[in-house]
Amino acid sequence: MDTSIALVTGANKGIGIQIARQLAGAGLTVYVGSRDAARGERAAEEIGGDARPLVLDVTDAASIAGAARQVDTLDVLINNAGISGDGKTPDREDAGTFRYIYETNVFGVVAVTNAFLPALRRSAHPRTTGPPGSSSPGTERRSRGKKRRSDVRAYTEAIRRLCPAAANAA
Ligand SMILES: NC(=O)c1ccc[n+]([C@@H]2O[C@H](COP(=O)([O-])OP(=O)(O)OC[C@H]3O[C@@H](n4cnc5c(N)ncnc54)[C@H](OP(=O)(O)O)[C@@H]3O)[C@@H](O)[C@H]2O)c1
Repeated sequence: MDTSIALVTGANKGIGIQIARQLAGAGLTVYVGSRDAARGERAAEEIGGDARPLVLDVTDAASIAGAARQVDTLDVLINNAGISGDGKTPDREDAGTFRYIYETNVFGVVAVTNAFLPALRRSAHPRTTGPPGSSSPGTERRSRGKKRRSDVRAYTEAIRRLCPAAANAA
């Protein structure tokens, strides 16, 4: 039984809830990150085990700071929250949509990871991951989010240098 403590961002549905479910099933305490409190509570209940809802909007500095204050020690940070835009081709996409995608998928990862670094540094074996698709060159080449994902990978590499034990991109 693994008694580590994990946080999965965007864990109220999709890949995030599946990751959270597997971690909770393995015995970990799992903070179920969700920007909506009710959706997070429902997800944590559904996951069971020691799953705990944690309100966390990765684009909102106050929300990130509030969430970080609630977690003293963190062993595993999974930066899963992300959006993929509205499916238009790049020439039809407006700058505001691009800006919001970057806010979520790039700056959100940086802001959340930086806010939780003190808690990660209190762990004996800290681990972080970027969003699914951020570390696989094959996925990156195929993805419309090529630039965003390579930015996240570069950031994760930098964290690895600054805090050697705390970065282990998935
Ligand atoms: N599915 C794929 O094939 C695929 C492939 C490559 C990469 N990915 C990446 O994998 C991750 C999860 O994908 P998915 O398919 O599970 O997507 P999904 O079903 O749309 O779930 C995304 C999750 O991120 C949350 N989220 C979005 N913006 C947020 C914000 N500002 N703050 C906090 N949470 C936020 C969503 O919350 P709400 O419910 O509140 O919207 C939701 O919980 C994403 O980063 C995605 O880009 C997915």
